[in-house]
Amino acid sequence: MNGFYSIAIDGPSGAGKSTQAKRLAAAFNFIYVDTGAIYRTLGLACYRAGIDRRDVNAVMTLLPTLDIGIEYNEAGEQCMLLNGENVSREIRLPEISLCASDVSAHQQVRSFLLEMQRKFARMYNVIMDGRDIGTVVLPDADLKIFLTASAEARAQRRMLELKQKGSEVSFDEVLKDINYRDDQDTHRAAAPLRKAEDAVEVDTSDIGFEETFERLCEIVIDKLSVRREDLP
Ligand code: DC
Repeated sequence: MNGFYSIAIDGPSGAGKSTQAKRLAAAFNFIYVDTGAIYRTLGLACYRAGIDRRDVNAVMTLLPTLDIGIEYNEAGEQCMLLNGENVSREIRLPEISLCASDVSAHQQVRSFLLEMQRKFARMYNVIMDGRDIGTVVLPDADLKIFLTASAEARAQRRMLELKQKGSEVSFDEVLKDINYRDDQDTHRAAAPLRKAEDAVEVDTSDIGFEETFERLCEIVIDKLSVRREDLP
């Protein structure tokens, strides 16, 4: 314990981690750190450089030459900088999701990016989301949540989200991407996605956003012994 609270939220792609974590961070006045965005930024850099992101040596040659930065804008949103360029939008493209999953499978990459993530927890009250936050990045987090949902429920939500942004993609295509990433994120040798033993599991397959948020708020209030009336 370093005087700051840390909350780890892990779970598969599309379970709603980032939306929930952002809202919780606002409700409890914590900093939100989206660690997937770091892997996405590296994935984008590999994509742009045209290197084989499954080749650990190629990725590890490129990585130290990059300046990957995290900044928060006036609205408190996390922005990803790649060599000074704000790439926050570009890293969300579906092809970059796959690149991110590929580069994140390398242990050397994960070790290189570990300190960047831990630094936040030493400086702020943080809610950090990812795949290995409760197991590797912040094993001593005050609260660990494993947020999950069935692949079909996640694909359905992701499809709606993409539709709203104007991308026409089929359900099968989205489900295929989700299954690919689930498989890779869960079965890789390096820090695979798994629920920490002391994590509280919340399955959102059959519950909506608001109900999930309420449930998470209760868990945070209970675990950190804060009172609802003291919240900002
Ligand atoms: O959460 P996301 O979909 O933005 O993450 C992008 C990829 O990065 C995902 O395929 C898994 C990987 N990732 C990881 O391995 N460890 C983390 N802590 C966060 C993300």
